Amino acid sequence: MILQSLDLQDFRNYTSLSVQFDRNTNIIFGQNAQGKTNILEAIYMSGVSKSHKGSRDAEMIRFGCEEGHIKTRILRNNDRTHTVDIHLKKGRKKGIAINRVPIRTSSDLFGLVHLIFFSPEDLNIIKNAPKLRRRFIDLELCQLDRIYLSDLNRYNKILMQRGQLLKDLYYHPDLKGTLDVWDEQLVEYGTRIIERRMKFVEELSPVIKELHFHISGETEKLSVSYECSTEPRFFREKLFKAREKDERLGQTTIGPHRDDIRFSIDEVDIRKFGSQGQQRTCALSLKLSEIHLVQKSVEDTPVLLLDDVLSELDRARQNFLLDSLHQTQTIMTCTGLDDFVRNRFAVNKVFEVINGTVSEKT
Ligand SMILES: Nc1ncnc2c1ncn2[C@@H]1O[C@H](COP(=O)(O)OP(=O)(O)O)[C@@H](O)[C@H]1O
Ligand SMILES: [Mg+2]
Repeated sequence: MILQSLDLQDFRNYTSLSVQFDRNTNIIFGQNAQGKTNILEAIYMSGVSKSHKGSRDAEMIRFGCEEGHIKTRILRNNDRTHTVDIHLKKGRKKGIAINRVPIRTSSDLFGLVHLIFFSPEDLNIIKNAPKLRRRFIDLELCQLDRIYLSDLNRYNKILMQRGQLLKDLYYHPDLKGTLDVWDEQLVEYGTRIIERRMKFVEELSPVIKELHFHISGETEKLSVSYECSTEPRFFREKLFKAREKDERLGQTTIGPHRDDIRFSIDEVDIRKFGSQGQQRTCALSLKLSEIHLVQKSVEDTPVLLLDDVLSELDRARQNFLLDSLHQTQTIMTCTGLDDFVRNRFAVNKVFEVINGTVSEKT
């Protein structure tokens, strides 16, 4: 797919903005706090209907305004254009329309836009808490699999309600019988989530292995595996056994919300024992694998959003990343426009951002 244009009104620090993107590489440069990331956030919103940073809708409306607008035009499979309109409103639910037809729930956006967002924080995904690796896999699968999206939403609701009940049991021990009902549902949806994630990691495994081997100068063989608090077939039993502990802690200790992905090289757990360089190379391999997996799964190329990542990588890794961008529309931000970046691309568009105003450079 190709993102053709973006129009903003009262979004973050933009009063109004209209940009036409090139189908290859687009560079957005400018000093800090000028509005580069805000542009990528707006694009991400139109694909996923959420902020990549987890900001609330109202926070994205320009200070002092009541509403904000994001409009994107997308070309899919080289023939059909689609528009996505997002209307952010203070204190009310946002409105979304595809081709001017309002949609009921944001999951109706599913499958229209495929994006990969790569930020400097992603380079820490290997060494940081398991939560971030679960977030990675969830965001990925939610874009690829509509059933997963709905299973995950259900699971999270049930988990929250079970957690509330566990806390209430202290004052209302008579409610204990209702735990069975929640457990039944937790196991049902949780099992589907674990199985889908395992399948994803299986697909990821050969792809990331090959990429990592190349990026590490053909020295490291990376293995990934899904690490679960319970195998699906023991879920019910383990959950039951953990009840006493769960009641004491007031939270559910068994289930996919406690799982992780393991990364190892020669049996060494890179999450804990890898060098900083290994962890970053691993993170880069993971993001690049994402491009391959999405491409394969949706039979279309995703749009790559790179937020200030080049400056975080050394020359060799920069080269590797830039070499992987062929045939993928890329929109990247950077603070400086050094010759290195310019020289890498034959065709591109360059935009400069100064305090919420964007101008195209030639
Ligand atoms: N809701 C908002 N309304 C107006 N300005 C905002 C809003 N949210 C963030 N900003 C401004 O946007 C700027 C940061 O933009 P950002 O895209 O993160 O900058 P960068 O160019 O460093 O990526 C800051 O100046 C901030 O004050
Ligand atoms: Mg930024």
